[in-house]
Amino acid sequence: MLSWCRAARELALKQEEGRTVMYTAMGGEWRPFGFPRRRRPLSSVVLEAGVAERLVDDVKDFIGNPRWYTDRGIPYRRGYLLFGPPGCGKSSFITALAGELGYSICLMSLSDRTLSDDRLNHLLSVAPQQSIILLEDVDAAFVSRELLPTENPLAYQGMGRLTFSGLLNSLDGVASSEARIVFMTTNFIDRLDPALIRPGRVDLKQYIGHCTAWQLAQMFRRFYPDQPPSEGDRFAKLALAAHTEISAAQVQGHFLLHKMDPAGSIVNVAQIRG
Ligand SMILES: Nc1ncnc2c1ncn2[C@@H]1O[C@H](COP(=O)(O)OP(=O)(O)O)[C@@H](O)[C@H]1O
Ligand SMILES: [Mg+2]
Repeated sequence: MLSWCRAARELALKQEEGRTVMYTAMGGEWRPFGFPRRRRPLSSVVLEAGVAERLVDDVKDFIGNPRWYTDRGIPYRRGYLLFGPPGCGKSSFITALAGELGYSICLMSLSDRTLSDDRLNHLLSVAPQQSIILLEDVDAAFVSRELLPTENPLAYQGMGRLTFSGLLNSLDGVASSEARIVFMTTNFIDRLDPALIRPGRVDLKQYIGHCTAWQLAQMFRRFYPDQPPSEGDRFAKLALAAHTEISAAQVQGHFLLHKMDPAGSIVNVAQIRG
């Protein structure tokens, strides 16, 4: 017990030092896993213009206004859904946001077959304060109930012992005097049951898509800060002429192949791939 307390204190210190602590569920409790990560600056995740600001402003506004909720008897929680193709920055953004807020992340896998309704409920109620609860790839755990059972038997059995209604109940029960923030991510918003993403469970939905010209130019300038800004625009234009859909992860990989060679990264723009 004593050593556990000390560990918790050390972790709190780490958080203050500018590192983000990740927790994962072990049995009925949250345990830190991996080394606390150096905070990723928000500016290193390049989303379409205005998107990061919209999300950050919303979360900060939520954290800063507990009275608005208590005065109205509304549970003090807020749910977010980031959706869109893989490799475009959903997970990276949430990690960077936690860093920005000085929050930790409680990472929960809904496809964990040992997860039951009761355990999920318990875990959500004992999640450390000042943390973001992150449910990644929620489409993978449950498939829309609107499909016929024959098309989609898993939706009716629930995966493991977690049922869809158990998940909804747990999300609805998440409340505390501290701000409770739940982020969900999915690559396939169409596969989600509308009940999961209705207001109160998901209050803000944000599409995080393939790179726009603006993002491509920004990423180029961030990676090659010594280049004239117009090179970023040239890169963006050529990249979009060569590919219709480019993920930020692919761009990052391409830049890493041309670490010291900005001209090469433009000349070889057709080679961007995952
Ligand atoms: N918008 C972005 N800006 C900067 N880097 C990005 C962005 N999107 C993805 N990456 C990089 O690509 C990799 C995968 O991104 P990730 O956040 O896991 O994507 P997603 O969760 O949308 O599948 C990470 O290494 C991340 O640094
Ligand atoms: Mg992800």
